Amino acid sequence: MAETTAKATLSIHGKTVELPVYSPKVGPDGVDIRKLYAEAGVFTYDPGFTSTASCESTITYIDGDAGVLLYRGYSIDELAEKSHFLEVCYLLLYGELPNAEQLEDFELRVTRHTMLHEQMQGFFRGFRRDAHPMAVMVGVVGAMSAFYHDSTDISDPWQREVAAIRMIAKMPTIAAWAYKYSIGQPFVYPRNDLDYPSNFLRMCFAVPAEDYEVNPILARAMDRIMTLHADHEQNASTSTVRLAGSSGANPFACISAGIACLWGPAHGGANQACLEMLREIGTVDRIPEFIKRAKDKDDPFRLMGFGHRVYKNFDPRAKVMKESADEVLGLLGVEDNETLQVAKELERIALEDEYFVSKKLYPNVDFYSGIILEAMGFPTSMFTPIFALSRTVGWISQWKEMIADPNQKIGRPRQLYIGAPQRPYVEVEHR
Ligand code: CMC
Repeated sequence: MAETTAKATLSIHGKTVELPVYSPKVGPDGVDIRKLYAEAGVFTYDPGFTSTASCESTITYIDGDAGVLLYRGYSIDELAEKSHFLEVCYLLLYGELPNAEQLEDFELRVTRHTMLHEQMQGFFRGFRRDAHPMAVMVGVVGAMSAFYHDSTDISDPWQREVAAIRMIAKMPTIAAWAYKYSIGQPFVYPRNDLDYPSNFLRMCFAVPAEDYEVNPILARAMDRIMTLHADHEQNASTSTVRLAGSSGANPFACISAGIACLWGPAHGGANQACLEMLREIGTVDRIPEFIKRAKDKDDPFRLMGFGHRVYKNFDPRAKVMKESADEVLGLLGVEDNETLQVAKELERIALEDEYFVSKKLYPNVDFYSGIILEAMGFPTSMFTPIFALSRTVGWISQWKEMIADPNQKIGRPRQLYIGAPQRPYVEVEHR
């Protein structure tokens, strides 16, 4: 438990209540309001949880004003440069960087779990060809609880561990197969001699008719995309996973709920929405028209890939992603591509525009990730599934932490009811 350092006093309706204040290792203090209703008979009101901590956590730390993101204390810039995704997975899951032997053992365990139960192919084939791959992922991941019964008992730490490894290992296969199905190509099985990002790229782009060689620069860029998206503390999808898990639901069901939440355009769906927006803008001369719309209060249009609930200075992931984008586009020789021209000009204008500067709206991670993924050959519909497969380790680490937390309770927010007070039923002929 974080240290209690002080007490806050709340006076309301003639009552005074003392509330403990906790100081976490870093970051602002938190007022403990758990006994507020019992002692003062009032609730707090905080839509969107902008001032509410839902748990204690040791996994990820964000300082939105300073543009800092740490996984288990290590900065995202350093991890993106020196580490790689599976090592980051180990770090997030177990709290420390692995030694060489631990890393080898972990990589072997993940590699040995990448295949899917053969009967699950029937599940994929049950979807319409034009189903969005996120819809397929929500369904298939939820269905894993019907295929892997030996890792659904959440009270057994070993089963929780196996479920975690299974999900990290199988998610690239699921995402790649959702893609293959949508384009009418045969499923490509995983290969144990390839590393995690290369295996995913091969399962997406190989066909039985010819060999597919993974370009190491693209594999490295994919690894970085995965690393940068691996966790982001209590965002909407992670909170969804925790909330679903708080009722004791099995881990596959919880991650499926997280995928559903991630799909929304304000969250993981933003990378797809951003690229579609860039295409809709089409040419540099049309940018001012869209900037004008983004500023117009009566127009629901927002510049996708800009702004963040927590980062109000810059998104540290965007910085690394921008470097990666330059590298990949250089390699593929697509710097002159029209969408990219629009992206660069939009970024330049928005960073200078008074509206965006004063509201602290900067390009976020999704602004650049979509550009890289498109250059790699992914259709926009695959952008969010790639975010989902990268975030799986974060979701499962947070879920494991929650299950082991002695303060964990079923999530059950309260409400301020503003509907009709109790009234008598009126027979239909009298309405
Ligand atoms: N374009 C235009 N105006 C914006 C934008 C934008 N992208 N984002 C925020 N604003 C304005 C907003 O209209 C509001 O103005 P006012 O104060 O005059 O009412 C002000 O900025 C604050 O916005 P907010 O909606 O209160 O901020 P929020 O913290 O609730 O929203 C956000 C954060 C990410 C949902 C929002 O910035 C947004 O919708 N961005 C576009 C979608 C996007 O790129 N999402 C990806 C986030 S990064 C990946 C992830 O974590 O999933």
